[in-house]
Amino acid sequence: QQLKMIGIAGSLRKDSFNKIILRHMAEQRPDAVDFSIYDLKHIPLFNGDLEVNGDPETVMNFKEAVEKADGLVIVTPEYSHGVPGVLKNALDWAASVTNQNVLDNKPAFVLGASPSPLGTAFAQAQVKQTLTAAGALVLQQPELYIGGIQNKLDKAGNLTDEKTRKALGQSMDTFIHWIQKMNT
Ligand code: FNR
Repeated sequence: QQLKMIGIAGSLRKDSFNKIILRHMAEQRPDAVDFSIYDLKHIPLFNGDLEVNGDPETVMNFKEAVEKADGLVIVTPEYSHGVPGVLKNALDWAASVTNQNVLDNKPAFVLGASPSPLGTAFAQAQVKQTLTAAGALVLQQPELYIGGIQNKLDKAGNLTDEKTRKALGQSMDTFIHWIQKMNT
């Protein structure tokens, strides 16, 4: 039986570097993995009033997709040394204290890419903190800080940097083992 993974990028940008990484992971997934990408563009701003009579439909769809997945992959950009609001907003819906918290006990893998040499290290630390607070089972190693991302792509926007491709492949294998370990 295939492992279901859901991947989200913390960017709405069409040409997002982080979306490129996520698409690469989906394309290169092992046969044992069913990898679907969820775009956060339809998620409204969190408002506790909107939760009272059940989640809005787009939020419900998102939360259902997370709930059904065996593992959550988050590829985050970094804004001003922090997590982009778009991503934090989606995690706040997912970790609801009013309705279901779909992050609780969810194996999660966080990585990110940026032009800076630090490769979203600050943002990833914040995402991991939020996930941990929500009860998610965050993979701690390997850490993937993909810096200088603009130099790791070809003109068509494909990830060509061999070191990064290898690290992504290896980290996917480690995440599969992590999911299996967390389920035993
Ligand atoms: C950035 N960027 C950025 N990068 C970084 O590594 N550390 C940072 O603190 C910031 N700060 C920052 C603030 C704001 C408001 C923006 C818009 C951008 C640059 C960022 O990494 C770059 O725009 C990426 O291209 C964003 O990710 P996506 O959209 O390509 O996935």
